[in-house]
Amino acid sequence: MILKSSIDKVIEIARIDEVVADYVSLKKRGSNLMGLCPFHNEKSPSFTVSPAKGFYKCFGCGKAGDSIRFVMDYEHVSYPDAIRQLAKKYQIELEETTVTDTEKLAETARENMFTVTAFAQKFYHQYLLDSEAGKAVAQTYFAERGFTDATIKKFQLGFAPEGWQQFTQEALQQQYSLPYLISTGLTIEKEGKHYDRFRDRVIFPIHNVTGRTIGFGARYLKPQTNAPKYLNSPESDIYNKSKVLYGIHHAKKSIIQNDNCYLCEGYTDVISLSQAGIENVVASSGTSLTVDQIKLISRFTKNITVLYDGDAAGIKASMRGIDLILQEGLNVRVVLFPDGDDPDSFAKRVTTETLQTYLNAEAKDFMLFKTSLLLAENNNDPIGKAKLIRNIVETIAIIPDAIIRSTYTKQCATLMDMAEAILIQEVNSIRRKTVTSQPAVELEIPIEEIIKPETTIQRNRYFEEEEAIRLLLNYAYHILQIATETETVSITVKDFMIAELEQDGIKFENEIFAQIFANLYIEESKLLSHFLSHTDEAVRNAVAAIVTEKYQLSPNWDSMGVYIPPKDFDLSGNVMRSVYLIKKYGIEQMMHEKDNQLKDASPELIESILEEKMLLQQMYMLINKYLGIVITG
Ligand code: UTP
Ligand code: MN
Repeated sequence: MILKSSIDKVIEIARIDEVVADYVSLKKRGSNLMGLCPFHNEKSPSFTVSPAKGFYKCFGCGKAGDSIRFVMDYEHVSYPDAIRQLAKKYQIELEETTVTDTEKLAETARENMFTVTAFAQKFYHQYLLDSEAGKAVAQTYFAERGFTDATIKKFQLGFAPEGWQQFTQEALQQQYSLPYLISTGLTIEKEGKHYDRFRDRVIFPIHNVTGRTIGFGARYLKPQTNAPKYLNSPESDIYNKSKVLYGIHHAKKSIIQNDNCYLCEGYTDVISLSQAGIENVVASSGTSLTVDQIKLISRFTKNITVLYDGDAAGIKASMRGIDLILQEGLNVRVVLFPDGDDPDSFAKRVTTETLQTYLNAEAKDFMLFKTSLLLAENNNDPIGKAKLIRNIVETIAIIPDAIIRSTYTKQCATLMDMAEAILIQEVNSIRRKTVTSQPAVELEIPIEEIIKPETTIQRNRYFEEEEAIRLLLNYAYHILQIATETETVSITVKDFMIAELEQDGIKFENEIFAQIFANLYIEESKLLSHFLSHTDEAVRNAVAAIVTEKYQLSPNWDSMGVYIPPKDFDLSGNVMRSVYLIKKYGIEQMMHEKDNQLKDASPELIESILEEKMLLQQMYMLINKYLGIVITG
């Protein structure tokens, strides 16, 4: 803990006008100072600093406070960290209590690693600017990439010498200690000898959010066999790949002002966009996007625009990114660049104006992004559509906020021309299965849209019928081998079901399912598309819901949308189980009807009704035996 006396000293010395002036350019206006507010985007200044009263206030967005509050809000740091930062600025020695020796040691070690890394950053930068090789090779390379001198300076780009030990030797000579050179990964120890990790590569320093160098990315200039294009610092106590975003230090101010963060893949994307005047940009370079990286962005804005390549890999990465961002409760939009372009190459190809216009015009809400992308893939193919709906519904289910979820569900229903109730049901069912960490806020289905089975028997029957239809839609023409007492018969799933149910006079109770069941004469290749383009909306929706459900149960669909059953899937077992369950519930219901008839039956009828009921009971026992269910009582 920082001692109160130390805190008071900082408050006393850190003048509001001096502190703010580090971040905002201020002009004198009477006894006050004015500037553009760093907390919201504005064209004319409404941000006022009063040195006399020791506070700032923005008349645009209302933010106000003292020096410490300013640093906290601007840097997004805690109170003690703001004090520490200001103490550093004014070179005030802070007195702290209860720091244990191990804490002190660990802190010292980290500080030493920062120091060594800062030295390396300067070394590589100087080597780029001053050395013959730096001038001849690396500067030429950056120039070819279109990086200006100002950009090279801003991003502190560098160049590592070709030799094996030049950096390490220089560092040791300047009294930097070997253990920290090794723990930061700058020097590699092998059989008692010490080598530079980065050799003959251009250097991209990586900074943490406060701007300290914590590691490096290094790109070769000539393709080398067996060497990766980019080599990165290893993870260390100061460099945690999954928590760092390249460019965040430069970008944070602009992210706050624009209330949006552009997210791309690489160092060069960030640098090129920044050079083109787009400052609110960071990259998840070296790793695929992580939750920690999203949390870091969410300190500055709740809006992320993902900028990825238009190639297959880029699209796949952006899909994954979308789900992760939504899961963290942030809003996500996506801009795809023309195939063959990444943000870097595109920014270079066009004017800043065109780039701005493109980013604004092409930024698509995730729903529009997914639909347009997937619709383009399968033009009007109904199975493709079902797949697409499933894909979107799965993404909607990830969103933690129920209101946003409901908005997207509505939008999806309109876009996909589907009943909202079915989508809601799907979203809820996915959430029930997958989301355990969040409170179960489920969307409510508009009452009039539910066909509610009234009794338990009816409900069981309904679900069993649905299961039978699911099997039929997926496997109608698959061949079953049914063993009877004398021989083994080959029969298709649909013929088996039709025969079994007809034999006992059992019909599908649900009208929609009955309609589907009656249409099974359609030939195999047209079966699904027949239903998915059916004139009856209820049939279309039911079939879409059922076949999409299958994607969720098992991802075994090939690119043609053909279902491939999993290896250990017991089709005949499932079909028989389904048929017998429908029969069972059918008979249960008939027995129930008999009971009702008995209630107000005339004495002469009672006996015949009881007889019928007995028959039903025998059938019931038989079926239960088939089902392997033992009835007691
Ligand atoms: P590129 O392959 O486009 O890198 O990857 P580049 O330096 O722009 O190369 P050329 O000139 O197009 O061939 C884009 C970004 O992906 C990251 C880097 O951040 C790079 O800026 N990347 C790429 C890596 O981190 N590691 C790699 O091995 C490759
Ligand atoms: Mn590139």
